[in-house]
Amino acid sequence: MGNRFLFIVAAVLAAACSQAPEKMQLTDVQVLGSPDGNMVMTFGLSSDGTPAYSLSLCGKDVVLPSSMGFTFRGNRVNDSYETRKGHIYKDPVDFHSGFSFEGAENGGLDETWEPIWGEESRIRNNYNELLVKLGKDGVKLNIRFRLYDDGLGFRYEFPDQENLTYFVVTDELTQFAMAGDHTACWIPGDYDTQEYSYTVSRLSRIAAGHNPDYNASQQICSENAVQTALQMKTDDGLYINIHEAAVLDYPTMNLDLDPGKLVFKTMLTPDAEGFGARMQTPCKTPWRTVMAVDDARKVLASRLILNLNEPCAIPDAAEWVHPIKYMGVWWEMIADKSKWSYTGDFHSVRLGETDYGQATPHGHHGANNDNVRRYLDFAGDNGFDALLVEGWNEGWEDWFGCQKFDVFDFVTPYPDFDIAALNAYAHSKGMKLVMHHETSSSAINYERHMEEAYTLMDKYGYDAVKSGYVGDILPGGEHHYSQFMINHYHYAVTEAAKHHIMVNAHEAVRPTGLCRTWPNMIGNESARGTEFKTGVLPNHVTILPFTRLQGGPMDYTPGIFEMDMARLNPAYPGKISSTIARQLALYVTMYSPLQMAADLPEHYAEHMDAFQFIKDVAVDWSRSEYLLAEPGDYLVIARQAKAGAKCKANMGMDGHEWFVGGVTDENARDLTVDLSFLESGRTYTATIYEDAADACGLGDDPAFNPGYHIRSVKVTSADKLPMHLAQSGGFAISIK
Ligand code: NOJ
Ligand code: CA
Repeated sequence: MGNRFLFIVAAVLAAACSQAPEKMQLTDVQVLGSPDGNMVMTFGLSSDGTPAYSLSLCGKDVVLPSSMGFTFRGNRVNDSYETRKGHIYKDPVDFHSGFSFEGAENGGLDETWEPIWGEESRIRNNYNELLVKLGKDGVKLNIRFRLYDDGLGFRYEFPDQENLTYFVVTDELTQFAMAGDHTACWIPGDYDTQEYSYTVSRLSRIAAGHNPDYNASQQICSENAVQTALQMKTDDGLYINIHEAAVLDYPTMNLDLDPGKLVFKTMLTPDAEGFGARMQTPCKTPWRTVMAVDDARKVLASRLILNLNEPCAIPDAAEWVHPIKYMGVWWEMIADKSKWSYTGDFHSVRLGETDYGQATPHGHHGANNDNVRRYLDFAGDNGFDALLVEGWNEGWEDWFGCQKFDVFDFVTPYPDFDIAALNAYAHSKGMKLVMHHETSSSAINYERHMEEAYTLMDKYGYDAVKSGYVGDILPGGEHHYSQFMINHYHYAVTEAAKHHIMVNAHEAVRPTGLCRTWPNMIGNESARGTEFKTGVLPNHVTILPFTRLQGGPMDYTPGIFEMDMARLNPAYPGKISSTIARQLALYVTMYSPLQMAADLPEHYAEHMDAFQFIKDVAVDWSRSEYLLAEPGDYLVIARQAKAGAKCKANMGMDGHEWFVGGVTDENARDLTVDLSFLESGRTYTATIYEDAADACGLGDDPAFNPGYHIRSVKVTSADKLPMHLAQSGGFAISIK
């Protein structure tokens, strides 16, 4: 390995368009080149011993010299108990300057791995590595850099050592110095939620554009802070994306911009005492990542975040983890056509003391036996794997905003939800029910009931749970992204794995590729999804794949056919900004192994011809081709079905099926779909679901019309299909 790496570095320095390290005024300079030689990372110590790195792609600056390090409160392991106790909470320690260079090691890897589910069936993980060893006052800090052809990952590692054991990170000082006033797709920096619309602006205009949407739990951290994954574009055409990978036992970071200098600094989510992370050596931080590519499509094709995560930790995952296409007794509650709760009799409810049997049902409980059976009939007849049922369990009378510790026990059904009979009915149709655990963010209450809750799922044959974290975290002072909650979400997923249960957490922290290690994490929300109805902007789904989806799949819940919300509840005027063809496109453009058909059976019954695409579309893929992309404007993606994946949609497929989706922002567009990804010499039938000639997907436009048109054509790999997309419209194509 050593010899091979020396050769690579020599080749890089000779051939690559690298930035001269001399420019950086650093000592102990170390240079790392990417496998293709185009990307160069330079590390060194500044004159006061502060570690710094910079990054370039083909000679263009991606990150200017940026400093690294921490502020701690800590102790020395050989201190007495009394001294140690005091030191943990006193005496801030500068752990960013004054370092000396103690050596470096080089390495690298070129492997291919196979995900249990994914956008492709084989993923190449190819990087060159540099481990820098630093010391300060007898304390050791290592920084590990991994450089890929499309980006950099680095993390801090604290080896087992005599002079540092327990410490508290009060601030992480990692910087990302930008080389220009790039255009960014950003959401406000927040410790609790990602459920925001995106603003597209120059970096220097972030504070000016700061107009955050309301959320049930939110804590904006600074008017210049933004969340990751942050997608930027430089004036000379580079696409830069900053994010993090493998966030475990450490808080999530936001990025706080110094608008004058255009330098981002990490802003860790504080815990209830205002600290970042409580650490014990040996330990490490998550990876900080900077992707840089010259074409937006390469951002979508990048597997940087997944590759920086550890391999699958569940030995038998392939036997029980599987993709799911599902429906839900859900949208009708979101639209307030029916309710999660069972009765309106109580002004306050205590678990275990309420006799729901005596209570008068208010008559709008969505999760009642007849209604669930109605959905199961429709979903079963149309080839779905599963049905989510929310509001099945006691507690919904006062779950929202009450700051109660013990809202739900996760095991007690309402009287009109026959858990045994409904599961048996689902199984008779070859389906499963999806469990729902809304925790109302009372994390300790959930952990207390978790084992019993998962055991109940085992008993009735559930193998997937949607969890939720609405409202401020209890215990108070913690945040959705603080270390305490990062550990909670991880506990929920790892405990679920012991029960062979898959998890789809809503309102949890944004994902950072952990689904590679824990593929039973089949979904997450952690962004503004379809549930925001008329509050989803036309450009939203042209941005999410560049940002939120970089860390893992999203349960976006597409497939709404009835855009007029007043038809569900007259109290909800307004129309969703979408056409029906665009809703179909989302099954391809918003990658997820868990895909919902979110609308009501009666709305699908009105458009069974368009619904055919939702029935047909695969949920697991062997290949993905990113055909056209510009964040904030448009996307066209083609995906090849994975033969024989363990979900009904894929089961009958042999891998010659392709599905294409295209979406646009508020502008109508004409785009050309180049079919050269098809096998040459083969003729396919393409069924095209496109916007009607007079369609308009802008919900507040008088010309709003979600109409569609369906046609079939014979195609080969030589064809190029011209497609017209209405404003906030789209198209979907199934090719067989
Ligand atoms: C918010 C979730 O995102 C939504 O899907 C769910 O229905 C509600 N919380 C209730 O849990
Ligand atoms: Ca939500």
